[in-house]
Amino acid sequence: MSRFITFEGIDGSGKSTQIKLLADYLSSKGAKVFLTKEPGEGKLGEAIRTMILARRDIEVKPYEELFLFCADRSHHVREVIQPKLEDGYTVISDRYYDSTLAYQGFGRGIPHDFVFDNAKASSLGVEPDITLFLSIPVEQALLRLKNRGRNNRMDEEPLEFHSRVDRGYRELMKRDIERIKEIEATGSPEEIHTEIKRFFE
Ligand SMILES: Nc1ncnc2c1ncn2[C@@H]1O[C@H](COP(=O)(O)OP(=O)(O)O)[C@@H](O)[C@H]1O
Ligand SMILES: [Mg+2]
Repeated sequence: MSRFITFEGIDGSGKSTQIKLLADYLSSKGAKVFLTKEPGEGKLGEAIRTMILARRDIEVKPYEELFLFCADRSHHVREVIQPKLEDGYTVISDRYYDSTLAYQGFGRGIPHDFVFDNAKASSLGVEPDITLFLSIPVEQALLRLKNRGRNNRMDEEPLEFHSRVDRGYRELMKRDIERIKEIEATGSPEEIHTEIKRFFE
C-alpha cells in the first residue's frame, strides 16, 4: 500500500532525526520506504537547492525564491514522488508544500493566496496522506542548530523570521487539522518517536 507522509517544522525541530526513526520502524513492519526531501531531490532539484540555499553570490528575492521552490517541487513530484507512490512505496518527504506556505508566505510576507495557489499547483495534485508538524519553541530549535552548525540561507535569518514561520505553521495546522498533526518535539528523540508511531499502528 502506497502512502505519502510529510514532515514539517522549522530547522532544528528534529525532522531528519525523526524521519530516520520512522523509516526504520515502518521498514521493520514490512513497508517499502522511500525517503526524499525538499528542496533538492533529482538533478534539477539539486541545482535549485544550490541556487536557493548555498550560492551566496546569487541574490534571490522573495518571489524568485517562491518560484524556485515551486519549480523544484513540480520536478520532485513528477520525477520522484509519483513514480515511487505508483510503485507501492511509503514515501516520506522532509518538507513539502506547507514549507512554501510557511516560509514564503508567512516568513517572507508574500500574499498568502498567491503563495497558496502556486504551492498547490506545484504539487500536481499529489497531497500528503498525513503531515507531522514538529512543534518546538523557536529558541530551542535554534539552540540545537547552533550545536549542529548553521548551513544555509534560511538558518542565517534572524529569530523573528523563524518566529513568523512558526506562527505560519500553527495557522496552517488550524486550517487543516485532519491532515496536519502537531507533534510535541521538545523531548528526547525516543519520546518524540513514540508519539509519532501512534499514527502508524
Ligand atoms: N529530540 C532531540 N533532542 C535534542 N537534540 C535533538 C533532538 N532531535 C534532534 N536533535 C539534534 O538537533 C539538531 C537538529 O535536528 P535535525 O533532526 O537535524 O532537525 P531538522 O532536520 O528539523 O533541522 C541535530 O544536531 C540533532 O542531532
Ligand atoms: Mg534536516
